[in-house]
Amino acid sequence: MTRNWMLEARRDVYRRRARSEGYRSRAAYKLLEADKKFRLIKDGAVVVELGAWPGGMSQVASRMVGPRGLVVAVDIKRFKKFEESNIIPVEADICEEDVVSKIIEVLNGRQVDLLISDASPKFTGVREVDVIKQMELTEKAYRIALEIVKKEGSIMLKAFECDELKLLEEEVKRSFKIVKRFIPSATRKTSSELYLIAQGKI
Ligand SMILES: C[S@@+](CC[C@H](N)C(=O)[O-])C[C@H]1O[C@@H](n2cnc3c(N)ncnc32)[C@H](O)[C@@H]1O
Repeated sequence: MTRNWMLEARRDVYRRRARSEGYRSRAAYKLLEADKKFRLIKDGAVVVELGAWPGGMSQVASRMVGPRGLVVAVDIKRFKKFEESNIIPVEADICEEDVVSKIIEVLNGRQVDLLISDASPKFTGVREVDVIKQMELTEKAYRIALEIVKKEGSIMLKAFECDELKLLEEEVKRSFKIVKRFIPSATRKTSSELYLIAQGKI
């Protein structure tokens, strides 16, 4: 009871902070923390975010890439209109075949420096099922990254701690020079959520 209350209170702090700083979700702080640690986003860069609704991380990326940069925010859900003119929303299912061509179309010839996937399924509460559903999205996001991220580019993929992740990690190590795991402080201690961060696409 006390523990749940403390977790809720911490989430509320992030939610309130997000509201006062103009971010659509507390996920924004996960990307800010990751960027501080790994220097993922540069001025003028092109960022694609999969599973981007409501848009907190994309807003962070938008501020960091600046007016010369571009953020493509992809989700199955429809976005509320963005004020940021450098964010292009794309309504698409990342498990559908046409998602890559939809992204390439809005990129209009520009190359992708960073692909973020924060996509997560509707959780059932049954760990085995949720892990499989999450890892399907993580692997799908990785396949998309292999197609669209430029040489020397980076990825940041939401995943769950599990055996499938270890296999995926081995695969990622063959295509990227540096591969690390990152657990944001905004993530609950009890959760097995983490991000796989890989830099320097070969
Ligand atoms: C944790 S939320 C993302 C929060 C977001 N990164 C932010 O900063 O506000 C996970 C998102 O993944 C999306 N999602 C789940 N499955 C998807 C799929 N197959 N294709 C596209 N988006 C998907 C959900 O609709 C949901 O909006």
